[in-house]
Amino acid sequence: METTYIMIKPDGVQRNLVAPILERFLAKGYILRGLKFMNVSKSLAETHYSDLSAKPFFGALVDYIISGPVVAIALEGKDVVAQARKLIGATNPLASAPGTIRGDYSIEIGRNVIHGSDSVENATKELALWFSEGLVDNNPVLRSQTFADRPTNKQAA
Ligand code: GTP
Ligand code: MG
Repeated sequence: METTYIMIKPDGVQRNLVAPILERFLAKGYILRGLKFMNVSKSLAETHYSDLSAKPFFGALVDYIISGPVVAIALEGKDVVAQARKLIGATNPLASAPGTIRGDYSIEIGRNVIHGSDSVENATKELALWFSEGLVDNNPVLRSQTFADRPTNKQAA
């Protein structure tokens, strides 16, 4: 099954958008495999956006990502890489459709609330970078059972 890397950027955290953003992905049906509230070092931000290092806005982009804590998220699900990008919306919030996260919550390209991996290959790289400790085994058999039916919650006979 496919897994993607999502990150709620510092502006999303400061504006208290963590819960509504998570709600959209979880309500859609994706499965949490990783969730961390963390500060970002300059070198991690530079590595994450290394493809953009020649861009004139690279320095400002790195400063933005390290300006406050982020929420790092690993999400699993069918076609989640491309579908998460659809839920996120276009890079420039002025171009992103209402109903998307950027379309609903942002007006500045340099403060666009959220990141999502843009390809399966980059998702693999980004998950290794941000979740080097590995992902959580969120067992699909346990997920399909009701809480009371789970082996750990059964009363001793
Ligand atoms: P991410 O999910 O953050 O990777 O965004 P993206 O994939 O939609 O866009 P891209 O990877 O091309 O750019 C990364 C980030 O750099 C964007 O999310 C913006 O915050 C910022 N960025 C991209 N283009 C511009 C630009 O022209 N000006 C400024 N100021 N920032 C930009
Ligand atoms: Mg990108």
